[in-house]
Amino acid sequence: MLYFVDGKFTKQDELCISIDDRGYYFGDGVYEVIKVYGGELFTAEEHFNRLFQSALKIKMTIPYSEQQLMDVARQLIDQNGIEDGHIYMQVTRGAAPRQHHFPTPAVPAVVTAYSVNGERPLSNMEKGVAIKSVADIRWLRCDIKSLNLLGSVLAKEEAREAGCTEAILHRDGLVTEGASTNMFGVKNGVVYTHPVTNLILEGITRQVVLGLCQELNIPVQEQAFTLAEAYAMDEFFYTSTTAEVMPVTEIDGRQVGDGKRGSLTEKLQQAFTERIAKKTVKNTI
Ligand code: PDD
Repeated sequence: MLYFVDGKFTKQDELCISIDDRGYYFGDGVYEVIKVYGGELFTAEEHFNRLFQSALKIKMTIPYSEQQLMDVARQLIDQNGIEDGHIYMQVTRGAAPRQHHFPTPAVPAVVTAYSVNGERPLSNMEKGVAIKSVADIRWLRCDIKSLNLLGSVLAKEEAREAGCTEAILHRDGLVTEGASTNMFGVKNGVVYTHPVTNLILEGITRQVVLGLCQELNIPVQEQAFTLAEAYAMDEFFYTSTTAEVMPVTEIDGRQVGDGKRGSLTEKLQQAFTERIAKKTVKNTI
C-alpha cells in the first residue's frame, strides 16, 4: 500500500511524520473521508470544497490546489488498486516546536493521505442498527471538520459499550447529529434533520440525501427535534460517507416504528444506490 505524506508517495515502513506535527500536539488540522465506488471517487468536488472551507475557518493555507489533491486521491486509488473503499486525507498546520499560537514564522501545512479497501455496509443497511443517546459535549464549531475529535471518540465508545453502532448526540435534549454521522427522523411522511449551523457538520451525504428528497417530492423540515421526538418517529436513519443511508431500528433500547427498516428510508437507499451508479461511471462525472 502506498501512502501520501508531505508531497511524496511512500510505503508504510518508510513514512515519516515529525513528532512536532501540530496534528499530534493540538489536533490542529482538518480532514476528509471520501468514498470510492468501482475505483472512482464519489462526490469528490464537494469533499475537497469542504476541506478548503474547513482550512479557511481555522486560518490555515493548504499548499496544494483542489485539483492537485484530487490527483493525489486518484493516484492512491490506482496505485493501490482500490475498487470499493475510501480515501482519508488530513492537513495539519505543520511541524514546529510546541507552542499554542500559530508557528512564527509560519511553516507549510502537512498533507497526509491513504486509501482503504472496504465493502458497503449492506447487511446493516437492510437490518437496521441500534443507537444510544449521549450528551453532546463537543466545542461550538462542529461545522469545521477538525482533527479534534475527543468528544466524538468518547461518545462513540459509550455507544459501542452499550452494543450500539452510533451515538445520537443532544444538547439539553435537542438532537444535533451523530458522533460521525447526521441524524434524520421521519414523521407522517416528513423528513426532519438539524439545520446547518455551527452545531453540526454539513455532511456531504446529508446534502445528497436532501437533494434526493427534493427529486422524490419527499417533504423536508431542517428543524431540530428533541430526543423524546426522536423516540416517537415513524422511521429513523443516519447518513455518512461510509454508512450511506443507515436505518435505525432502536434508540436507547426503544423500538423505532415497527422495528424494521422504514419504507421511506428504503426508498432513499435505492435512490442513493442509483446516484452512486450514475455518478461514478468513468468519464461521466
Ligand atoms: N464523518 N457529522 C460528523 C460529526 C462527521 O464526522 C461526519 C463524517 C458526518 C457525515 O458527513 P459526510 O456525509 O460528509 O461523511 C456528520 C466521517 C465519515 C468520519 O469521521 O469518518
